Amino acid sequence: MIRNTPDSNQIARDYLDSILIEQRLIGSQTPSTQFELFGRRFSTPVMMPAFSHLKPYAPGRESGLIEYSRGAKDANAVNFVGMIENDGFLQIVKANPNTIRIVKPYADREKIFSQLTFAEQEGALAVGMDIDHFFNKTNGQWDLCVGELLQPQSEEMLKENISSVKIPFVVKGVLSVKDAAVCAEAGADAVIVSHHHGRLNYAVPPLMVLPDICRELKGTGIRIFADCSIDTGYDAFKAIALGAEAVCVGRALLPDLKKDGAVGTKRCLDRMTGELAAAMAFTGAKCLSQITADVLWSSITGKRIVPSDTDSR
Ligand SMILES: Cc1cc2nc3c(=O)[nH]c(=O)nc-3n(C[C@H](O)[C@H](O)[C@H](O)COP(=O)(O)O)c2cc1C
Repeated sequence: MIRNTPDSNQIARDYLDSILIEQRLIGSQTPSTQFELFGRRFSTPVMMPAFSHLKPYAPGRESGLIEYSRGAKDANAVNFVGMIENDGFLQIVKANPNTIRIVKPYADREKIFSQLTFAEQEGALAVGMDIDHFFNKTNGQWDLCVGELLQPQSEEMLKENISSVKIPFVVKGVLSVKDAAVCAEAGADAVIVSHHHGRLNYAVPPLMVLPDICRELKGTGIRIFADCSIDTGYDAFKAIALGAEAVCVGRALLPDLKKDGAVGTKRCLDRMTGELAAAMAFTGAKCLSQITADVLWSSITGKRIVPSDTDSR
């Protein structure tokens, strides 16, 4: 019998859908989704994904990445971009200066430093690295991504990457307390709790491990974000309730981007921000910091997800 390997994206989706929200209506007020990051103010904690290679999603357009960067600017949301050469990055940061550049863990260390410092010089909001993309998921060897060899990062290498720039550094692809602790030790300014849309099979859903990571990083000042299957504002609400300060929407953005470019991107972000505000209004949260885990229930256990006395914040 051939067994299908469970898809980590489906596992994350199922986990999100198993989380239910109680109502706290009396005295509730119209909420604000204002969000601050690295000294700049945004209208929403729903951020763009670190995407690359979007040609199929922008037929007939200049570039999917530029279109979505413009859409993020129009929605006043934090922009991210993934694997890209410096000339492409320049166009993106011109379209939206509030961009965080996530550099690949290239085996060529000089390429890493060149991309990080280029982003810093060109005024990026922050830089970072997706530490979860270096092994090939079919054989555990170093991966070759669009002709570029990638390699695992040691704590020392991470420290070098972080100290090569003066702007904030975001580590993307943290999915354990152990890695979170190393990021704190190495001097990271933020982490994205993520499995990079299923690089690891049977991956624990980011939101399942998030409260433990928040507890580990409590008091360090490290900003904590989450992604993977954040498809609606309700998903964003659940992530924030479990300790994330902000989320990245990912593949859920692609249909709107493909259909209407920058306009579609803004529409997707506005829709998700509206849904987040609705969930806040229904639970009595006036601002993002008032979203707490004790409104969440598990449909599997019939109990609260995180009891209020052990709230991770
Ligand atoms: C087309 C595509 C390209 C991506 N490129 C990158 C990349 O270059 N760097 C990166 O860190 N993540 C990249 N990702 C991963 C996303 O940033 C994100 O972690 C992932 O899609 C999980 O979110 P989702 O489940 O909402 O899609 C890419 C994802 C997609 C679908």
